[in-house]
Amino acid sequence: MRLLVTGGAGFIGANFVHHTVSNHPETTVTVLDALTYAGNRASLDPVADRIDFVHGDVADLDLVDDLVGRVDAVVHFAAESHNDNSLAEPWPFVQSNIIGTYALLQAVRRHDVRYHHVSTDEVYGDLSPQAQAFTETTPYNPSSPYSATKASSDLLVRAWSRSFGVRATISNCGNNYGPYQHVEKFIPRQITNLIDGVRPRLYGAGHQIRDWIHVDDHNRAVWEILHRGRVGQTYLIGADGELDNKSVVRSILAAFGWDPDDFDHVTDRPGHDRRYAIDASLLRSELGWQPRYVDFRTGLAATIQWYRDNESWWRPAKADTERAYREAGERICFAVRD
Ligand code: NAD
Ligand code: TYD
Repeated sequence: MRLLVTGGAGFIGANFVHHTVSNHPETTVTVLDALTYAGNRASLDPVADRIDFVHGDVADLDLVDDLVGRVDAVVHFAAESHNDNSLAEPWPFVQSNIIGTYALLQAVRRHDVRYHHVSTDEVYGDLSPQAQAFTETTPYNPSSPYSATKASSDLLVRAWSRSFGVRATISNCGNNYGPYQHVEKFIPRQITNLIDGVRPRLYGAGHQIRDWIHVDDHNRAVWEILHRGRVGQTYLIGADGELDNKSVVRSILAAFGWDPDDFDHVTDRPGHDRRYAIDASLLRSELGWQPRYVDFRTGLAATIQWYRDNESWWRPAKADTERAYREAGERICFAVRD
C-alpha cells in the first residue's frame, strides 16, 4: 500500500509513521507536513531513509491533488491542535483544519482514494462528572475554536462520504500522551518543568477530567480502522483512562520524587471543558482492538524516561513556549477554590 500521512512531523503523526515503518514495512510512506511550530523534522530522523518527506500545506489544492493521485490511501493527522492557541488566534485553525480537510476531500474524491480522518473527542463538547461517556452517536457540541474547526472538518468528511461516495472513516480519540509531544501540552509541559526544577502548573483547581490514552494504542487503532473499518463509519478510540488534572500532576510529581503539593495553580482557561470520556465499545467489539497501556503510571514512566533521554529534541521549544504562556497572561493564583 502507498500511504500519504499528513502531519507526520507532529506528535501523533510521527509516532504513526514509526509504527508503520516498523510493523508494516511493505507500506510506502509519504509525509506531507507544513512544519509549523508544532512540526519537527527531527521526530522523523529514525525513519528518514525509509519515507518520502514533502514540505507543504494541506490547504494547497494543487499540491494535495498531485500527492493524493500517487497513493492508495490517506491518513489525515495535520491540524492546528492546541486549544490555548486557538483562543489567542483562531485563523490558522480555520485555514488548516477546515480548508486543509476540504482540499484533501476534493483530491480523494477525484482520485477515488481511501481516506481516514483523525479527529478528537472534543467535537462532542464536555460532560458533567456523572454523565454517560461519548459514543459515536453523541451530538456535536464543540466549545473552543480548536474543537469547532475539528467538528467542521468531521462534518465535511461525513458529507463527502454520503454525497460523493468518498471511501472515508473517522476516528475520534481522547487525550494522547507519549514521546514526541510538543512541550506546550499538559503532560510534557509538566515533565520538562520538573526536569528543569520548576513546579508544574495546573489550570484553576485542576478538577477537569481527560480520558488519557498512550499514543501507540491510538495509532494501532487508526491502523485497524484504515484496513478493516467500515467505510462511512465513525469509531471512538479510548482506553478507559479517565483522570482529573490534579491527579495527573500528582502522578508526575511522584515519579520525580517530589511532594504531591509541589505545584502551582495558574489562571484557568476560558471556557475550559469539564470532562471528556469515551465509550470505545464499537472499536473493541467490531475490530477486536484493545489498549496495551492499561496502567497510566507505566505509560507515564516510559514517557518521562523518553523526555529525560531526548532533551535535545524538546529543549529548543521550551523557553519560547513558556514565554508564550506568560505573554498570554498566565499567572500563579494563590487563592483557588477547591
Ligand atoms: P501536533 O500539533 O503535534 O502536530 C500537527 C502537525 O500538523 C505538525 O507537524 C504540523 O506541522 C502539521 N500541520 C499543521 N498545519 C498544517 C498544514 N496546514 N499543512 C500541513 N501540515 C500541517 O498535533 P497532534 O497532537 O499530533 O494531533 C494530530 C491529529 O490528532 C490532529 O488532527 C488532532 O486534532 C488529533 N488529535 C489529537 C489528540 C491529542 O491528544 N494530541 C487527541 C485526539 C485527536
Ligand atoms: P491539553 O494538553 O492542552 O489538552 P486539551 O486541551 O486538548 O485537553 O490540556 C489537558 C488538560 O490540562 C486541560 O484540562 C488543560 C490542562 N492544563 C493544565 O492544567 N496546565 C497546563 O499547563 C496545560 C498546558 C494544560
